[in-house]
Amino acid sequence: MRILFASSEAHPLIKTGGLADVCGSLPPALKRLRHDVRLVLPAYPAAVAAAGKTSPVAELQLPGSDAPVRILEGVLPKTRVKLYLVDSPLHFDRAGDPYRASDGRDWQDNHLRFGVFARALVKLAMNQAGLDWQPQILHCNDWQTGLAPALLSQHPDRPATVFTIHNLSYQGLFPRHAMEDLTLPPEFWDLFGLEYHGQLSFIKGGLVFADHLTTVSPTYAREIQTAQFGNGLDGLLNARAHDLTGIINGADYRHWDPAKDKLLPARYNADDMSGKATCKQALQERMGLEVLPDRPLLTHVGRMVAQKGVDLILAACEPLLAAGQIQLAILGSGDKNLEARARAMAARHPGRMGLQIGYDEGLAHQLEAGGDMFLMPSRFEPCGLNQMYSLRYGTVPLVRRTGGLADTVVDTNAETLAEGTATGLVFEAPTIEALSEAIGRGISLYQDQAQWNDLMRRGMSQEFSWDRSAQAYQELYRELTR
Ligand code: ADP
Ligand code: GLC
Repeated sequence: MRILFASSEAHPLIKTGGLADVCGSLPPALKRLRHDVRLVLPAYPAAVAAAGKTSPVAELQLPGSDAPVRILEGVLPKTRVKLYLVDSPLHFDRAGDPYRASDGRDWQDNHLRFGVFARALVKLAMNQAGLDWQPQILHCNDWQTGLAPALLSQHPDRPATVFTIHNLSYQGLFPRHAMEDLTLPPEFWDLFGLEYHGQLSFIKGGLVFADHLTTVSPTYAREIQTAQFGNGLDGLLNARAHDLTGIINGADYRHWDPAKDKLLPARYNADDMSGKATCKQALQERMGLEVLPDRPLLTHVGRMVAQKGVDLILAACEPLLAAGQIQLAILGSGDKNLEARARAMAARHPGRMGLQIGYDEGLAHQLEAGGDMFLMPSRFEPCGLNQMYSLRYGTVPLVRRTGGLADTVVDTNAETLAEGTATGLVFEAPTIEALSEAIGRGISLYQDQAQWNDLMRRGMSQEFSWDRSAQAYQELYRELTR
């Protein structure tokens, strides 16, 4: 099948979160199933540099852009997936991350930037770019691609469209004048179109107009149809319940496997765990922690935003750090208040709490490997990838029962121990008390070395392969093109 896969991020080209992991892994998995899948991203300077050799293959004249927009063709590194980069220097050739300037503020013209991207997607999808290739499926991801299904809906003979929700809380909302700035058809300004409480909603372009919707776990697919998790869009998602499927993400074991991971100081596997002790020691040294092999080391990596519950981690861990019961190591960046709270707390617990504010791929791997438990007390979590990585690295995930976390981690209790299915620690309420209780259970289990080893090994044997998830997408594509 011919699939055009559109995203604003893909590892190893450009990454701010799990969206990049997915979009760097699912297209290669589809390719392994022998589909002609092509990945398309904006030509951010970092992405162009990471792509290596590319060449211009098309030039498009698009509404909203005076200068022609070039399509650069290359290959997603270390795969055989064809890559298109939408090169509009006015929109994408700038420093900073894909959405924000270096001062942390959103680019003021994000609607124009992702408007141009969507227009380019339509040209590619309609075989109007001179590439002599028309996809049967256009697969869009998150709000940055949301206008494409809307614009495409106006074309006869268009490919079928799939829109995947990776995170419903990022919606791409812009003031009303963005409608005119983008020269969008006035009929889109409608409750059953792109209008959302007086604003222009990019995500609604996908949610309303795509032929099929998916999200990244079965539990999140159910949750977003409720007021609690629906971010104001639960009514719409309820109306489209028959076109909404939850497909769990995979973990890319090409990049996340402790037996092969070159970003670690030592490698290990379930039969020989000695390398994990080396990783713990190296991590303690790197994060400025006392080198204590038997002190439970709790780790966390993530965007510092309310979703991830890092505030809960800080509050629950403070008394345990003070009592010398645990060590804590955190990597992340985001909300300036949360960053400041974490900094102040690390200063109060030298040698016991390590903190790095920023983005660091290597350290993220070392935290997965060197920790004893990995904390994910997310308030909501569409899928979550770090808990899957933690399982593979023998770092027991401690997660809140929500979204993809609920679908991938099995709590340790009398029943699951008897059945031999326990893989982690799961708690219910998004509160300091509930998290503290779960950490307490984790510390007790950790003291029982035999049981802890069983838990680690069972986690390491779990398989969340992309091949299985890619097959689920393949089924969906087949149904849509039937
Ligand atoms: P989300 O997409 O909501 O951020 P996920 O768990 O799906 O959460 O994926 C997050 C991905 O981003 C993981 O690969 C994680 O290791 C990575 N990541 C997040 N923050 C950082 C950071 N500060 N440094 C390095 N990697 C990070
Ligand atoms: C989002 C979600 C995360 C998910 C990722 C990839 O960023 O927050 O839960 O794993 O997308 O689908």
